[in-house]
Amino acid sequence: LTPKDLEGLKLIVSAGPTREYLDPVRFLSNPSSGRMGYAVAEAARDRGAEVVLVAGPTSLPDPWGVQVVRVESALEMREAILAQYPWAEAVVMAAAVADYRPETTLADKEPKVEAERILRLVPNPDILKELGEKKGDRVLVGFAMETREGLERARGKLVRKNLDLIVLNWVNREGVGFGSLENEVVLLLRDGRVLELPRMPKRQVAHRILDFVKEFWKA
Ligand code: C5P
Repeated sequence: LTPKDLEGLKLIVSAGPTREYLDPVRFLSNPSSGRMGYAVAEAARDRGAEVVLVAGPTSLPDPWGVQVVRVESALEMREAILAQYPWAEAVVMAAAVADYRPETTLADKEPKVEAERILRLVPNPDILKELGEKKGDRVLVGFAMETREGLERARGKLVRKNLDLIVLNWVNREGVGFGSLENEVVLLLRDGRVLELPRMPKRQVAHRILDFVKEFWKA
């Protein structure tokens, strides 16, 4: 039986990709399935936490016992998360937020023309960095997905975004990461601890992450 060791923890989890629309039917996105974030939300619920799951477009069903807020774009995700932030004691930011969006979203679908087109992109706000700037006593967990220099880059993000923990995913390893059921991650902690976890189901990774959320919560 799962211990209710997170009873009363007020937790926001973000999950899934975002969609950045060019027009009503075309968007920029990424292959995030949402599984890692959903696993965190479900594991936390099982341990007694109150969970708000802010989810980009995924094919996963809403988990029971979790308040689900559905969003599409990074700007919508930011709004939804900031609205819950005053309430929250911890945030696990597992969403694969698009770094850029088209400068404009056309109201109508454009007819095709036989010519090159240039798409101008503008940067999306870094939601997690913004949360880090007004962290208070909250526990903040981020994810980093890297193809190289993972440890250095993840450490840099941990510091820059004022996090307690960052979960490093390797993009180019088979059978883990985007879309898969298992994950092989490294946990980098604020105090310098580094834990290389073996390949395991995402639900188990979720519990390891939550063990640290518990350690930092009200610490
Ligand atoms: O800087 P990078 O995008 O690699 O950082 C990844 C972490 O930051 C993830 O936890 C992701 O959810 C979060 N993030 C965010 N807003 C963005 C981009 C990333 O909150 N615009």
